[in-house]
Amino acid sequence: MANVTLRNVKKQFGDVSVIKGVDLDIADGEFCVFVGPSGCGKSTLLRMVAGLEDISAGELKIGDQDMTEVGPADRGVAMVFQSYALYPHMTVENNIGFGLRMTGHSTADIAKRTNRAAEMLQLGPLMQRKPSQLSGGQRQRVAIGRAIVREPQVFLFDEPLSNLDANLRVQMRIEIGKLHQDLGATMIYVTHDQVEAMTMADKIVVLHGGIIEQVGSPLELYHRPRNIFVAGFIGSPKMNFIKAKVSAGKTGKLDVTLPGGGKVSVDSQGAKVEANQPVTLGIRPEHMIVGGKSDGELKGTLRLAEYLGSETMFYASLPDGSDISVKADGLATAKPGSTVVFGIPSKACHLFDAGGGAIINGDLTK
Ligand SMILES: Nc1ncnc2c1ncn2[C@@H]1O[C@H](COP(=O)(O)OP(=O)(O)OP(=O)(O)O)[C@@H](O)[C@H]1O
Ligand SMILES: [Mg+2]
Repeated sequence: MANVTLRNVKKQFGDVSVIKGVDLDIADGEFCVFVGPSGCGKSTLLRMVAGLEDISAGELKIGDQDMTEVGPADRGVAMVFQSYALYPHMTVENNIGFGLRMTGHSTADIAKRTNRAAEMLQLGPLMQRKPSQLSGGQRQRVAIGRAIVREPQVFLFDEPLSNLDANLRVQMRIEIGKLHQDLGATMIYVTHDQVEAMTMADKIVVLHGGIIEQVGSPLELYHRPRNIFVAGFIGSPKMNFIKAKVSAGKTGKLDVTLPGGGKVSVDSQGAKVEANQPVTLGIRPEHMIVGGKSDGELKGTLRLAEYLGSETMFYASLPDGSDISVKADGLATAKPGSTVVFGIPSKACHLFDAGGGAIINGDLTK
């Protein structure tokens, strides 16, 4: 079993506290993705699991073994870095097998494992080349091959695809997904890329300033963000945040007053509010309806329209001066400067209190 357990894990660099008490359970065979803004501690946390950074406080277990004091080579983990970190003077074959030679594996065992990894990653024809004779995607496959041959219990990836162009990223994303299925190994994967996080993860961990904001499946985080930070971080384009006021409506409802005076009535889900409580209404660009009637309406002045073919993005200003973005189908058109009505389905509305905590989550899946 290679589940990974972190209990109140902390990291200090001198006086600076970078990881501030993280509790996390990653199941055996799970694909866990760390996301969060630059500097929030994703790489540090990953390197702590790898044993490349020591743990200032708390406990780390891999399987049932306490790893807090165990060196990186003995943790049963292999890490793939953003910079592929290949040896330039060695062939692909030797790069892949290098770690095994260093740990005294037999020549026959090295050959067997190297060939199997090469086959999995379609590196067979490239085995005698040097890294300088490979494309970025091929180099990244070699780096992954080097991790595979070690047969780790846990794979750690730190933004492995961010140096690749868009097409290669998609291809490699699919390959890593297949690899996860084939090997059944536990994987922890750091990325900045929304699509990678949403498509690859069984579990996403949203980090912010050294703490975990929320852990959940991609769709849990998309539909039920616990707070305004997660709501704004998960999903692309980003959720709109609109200043509004809310009061208790008829039984089981909350009445929300929008900028410009429009209203939308939403399911209270048992939440209690004060009369005229200031809130932030969160609604995703893809859930607003351009020009269409819905449960509520918001008028805005169109600033910009982007015609992308498959979809049109509208950017508009609201009467209170704030900006929203709205995603419509590729045939929608509107003129900059014109007034556009945006329909607001009440089921798509999230409400956040002044502290940023969710009062209710709109959930279109219900
Ligand atoms: N060796 C170090 N000494 C002091 N501070 C450090 C050290 N390594 C990292 N930090 C700080 O710790 C914080 C977290 O860094 P980390 O590299 O984990 O961020 P990250 O989430 O991976 O960011 P990015 O998305 O930019 O890669 C940053 O503020 C960074 O400046
Ligand atoms: Mg990083």
